[in-house]
Amino acid sequence: MKLIVTRNYEEASTLAANYMAAQILMKPNCVLGLATGSTPLGIYHHLIKMYQDHRITFRSVSSVNLDEYYQLPPDHPQSYHHYMHSEFFNQIDIPADATHLPNALAEDPAQECRRYDRLIDHLGGIDFQLLGIGANGHIAFNEPSDDIPNGTHLVDLTESTIDANKRFFSSASEVPRKAYTMGIGSILRARKILLIATGTNKAQALQETVCGPVTPRVPASLLQLHGDTTILADREAAQLLDERNFHVN
Ligand code: F6R
Repeated sequence: MKLIVTRNYEEASTLAANYMAAQILMKPNCVLGLATGSTPLGIYHHLIKMYQDHRITFRSVSSVNLDEYYQLPPDHPQSYHHYMHSEFFNQIDIPADATHLPNALAEDPAQECRRYDRLIDHLGGIDFQLLGIGANGHIAFNEPSDDIPNGTHLVDLTESTIDANKRFFSSASEVPRKAYTMGIGSILRARKILLIATGTNKAQALQETVCGPVTPRVPASLLQLHGDTTILADREAAQLLDERNFHVN
C-alpha cells in the first residue's frame, strides 16, 4: 500500500484526477471502476476540465460503478445512476453504452448480481478502481462483517451508513435499506486501486485500514493484501497516522 498525504481535499482531488488521466493515457480502452458519494466530486470536476481542455478523451473507456441503491429508479435524484450521469458522464465523451451500474429495478436480484459479475468479466476485469471509504471502514457497500463477499451481492445497509447518507435525502426514512454492491473479491481483482479519504470523520477508519489487522470487520483493511493500492488522504483523514511513515505532499 502506498500512502500519499495532501494538504487538503482540493489537492487530493487534483492528484487523483491526474492518476486517472495517466491511466487513460496508458490504456485508452481501459475499464474504470467508479465510485459515488461526496469524495469523488472534486475528481470528476477535474477530469471534466481535462476533457474540455482536450487533454484526455473517454471515447474508448468503459466504466463499471461500485454500487447502486436497491429499487431506487434510475431517474431518482439520489440514485447513483442519476449522480453518475449528471456529475460526470453527461459532461464527457464516454459512449452511453460503455457505462454500467447495477440495475436497481431488476426483478430477480440474484440474477442481476450474476449479470453484473459476468459483465465485469466480459469487459476483461477492472484496470483502475476508484474507492472512497465509509466512516465505518466500508468500501463500496461492503459493510463490516465476518464474511469476505466475493462477487456482486445485495446488502443490508448498516444504521451508520444510513445515517451518513441521509444528508442526501429529505429524511433518514427515505434512505433505501438495501443496495447492490460489488464484492470485496471484485474490488481486489482490479489491477490498480486508488482510495481517497478526506476529512476528520474518516481518520479512525483510515488508521484501522492502514495500521490495523486485515479483517472484514474493517473491509478497507483487506486492501493491505492488494499489490497495487495507493491511498490519497488529506491531513485531516491522516491525523491518526504516524507522520514518520509517509510523505506529506
Ligand atoms: C459509493 C461508495 C461508498 C462511498 C463511501 C464514502 O459509491 O462506494 O463506499 O465511497 O460511503 O462516501 P462519501 O464520499 O460520501 O463520504
